[in-house]
Amino acid sequence: MRLLVTGGAGFIGSNFARVVLEQRPDWHVIVYDALTYAGNKTNLDGLDSNRFNFIQANVCDESAINEAVASVDAVVHFAAESHNDNSLTSPWPFVNTNIIGTYRVLEAVQKHQKRLHHISTDEVYGDLELDDPAKFTPQTPYNPSSPYSSTKASSDLLVRAWIRSFGIQATISNCSNNYGPYQHVEKFIPRQITEILEGRKPKLYGNGQNVRDWIHVEDHSMGILAILERGKIGETYLIGANGEKNNQEVVELILELMGKEPSDYEHVNDRPGHDLRYAIDATKINEELGWRPKYTDFKQGLKDTIGWYKNNEEWWKSQKAKTESRYKEIGR
Ligand code: NAD
Ligand code: TYD
Repeated sequence: MRLLVTGGAGFIGSNFARVVLEQRPDWHVIVYDALTYAGNKTNLDGLDSNRFNFIQANVCDESAINEAVASVDAVVHFAAESHNDNSLTSPWPFVNTNIIGTYRVLEAVQKHQKRLHHISTDEVYGDLELDDPAKFTPQTPYNPSSPYSSTKASSDLLVRAWIRSFGIQATISNCSNNYGPYQHVEKFIPRQITEILEGRKPKLYGNGQNVRDWIHVEDHSMGILAILERGKIGETYLIGANGEKNNQEVVELILELMGKEPSDYEHVNDRPGHDLRYAIDATKINEELGWRPKYTDFKQGLKDTIGWYKNNEEWWKSQKAKTESRYKEIGR
């Protein structure tokens, strides 16, 4: 199996490349990544160079993606602009990469008749009330709130249309919020850990009661591998680990694990249009593909993640000041 992993120098894509090379000793992985501010080639350090190649290129580049797709058996498409806050200040890269980029991938996959797995998010479903007993299922209507989630929703709809109209061999997964090593410091958990490491207080948007459904990145990667190998063509699978927590609880836990007072955080301005709650019903992937999360102890997963950021300051330090100056500009 020769596998093309778009966006494979980012947080989840690089974890997936590593997991695949570990789990499938006869597979070859080709990471295709534009190395935007969010991509980092060192995320792929140590991968077996006999079974791994890197192509620096943009998914919107028609001829480059076409050539790369032609050379493999299957494509897992992670490449995207991925941060909600950035999409609120600068939506164009989201429209371009997430929609046009996915269109280019689809054209190439259709032309060369290759298997595709498209990576998406639970945010396409909009948000739930805090007391809503229902969770997101593959039947939940799309109702995205932000430029990020609406462009991801658009990309999913393109994939569905290409499956139905052109018969491409594709699957889709929508996963909840990931955490773990190598996540960019603009995202919630690494931002708070690194704020504390730099001697500042964690920052909660609004009242801190918004709920996210946390899953360890490695569990997400194993779910993707299960769908790639055993998923039914044309189907959508939701990946989640029953990890609902509100943001205040997460910040308090991070503070406790880092030896600080759990109340030692500050409230900052809320995010415009801030989704209240996400929650995944993962019954379909549990029952049809036998996938189950391994990281069921969030406190332990968070402790390990804090340990990773403590030990890998050189990895995040160069991005930290830039990221915080962007947050300062928008008052968060
Ligand atoms: P990330 O921002 O860490 O990584 C994105 C990667 O894509 C980077 O390496 C970047 O260089 C690359 N990229 C961006 N634009 C590109 C382009 N035009 N051409 C080629 N490469 C480009 O993101 P992530 O958190 O690893 O998310 C990966 C995927 O998973 C995204 O599709 C995202 O929507 C989805 N997802 C993320 C989460 C989460 O919690 N982070 C949850 C569910 C789904
Ligand atoms: P984020 O990691 O940006 O993921 P998403 O918006 O895709 O869920 O944010 C997770 C939650 O944390 C979200 O409710 C916004 C909140 N948040 C904060 O409270 N403080 C912060 O500094 C950041 C970056 C996010």
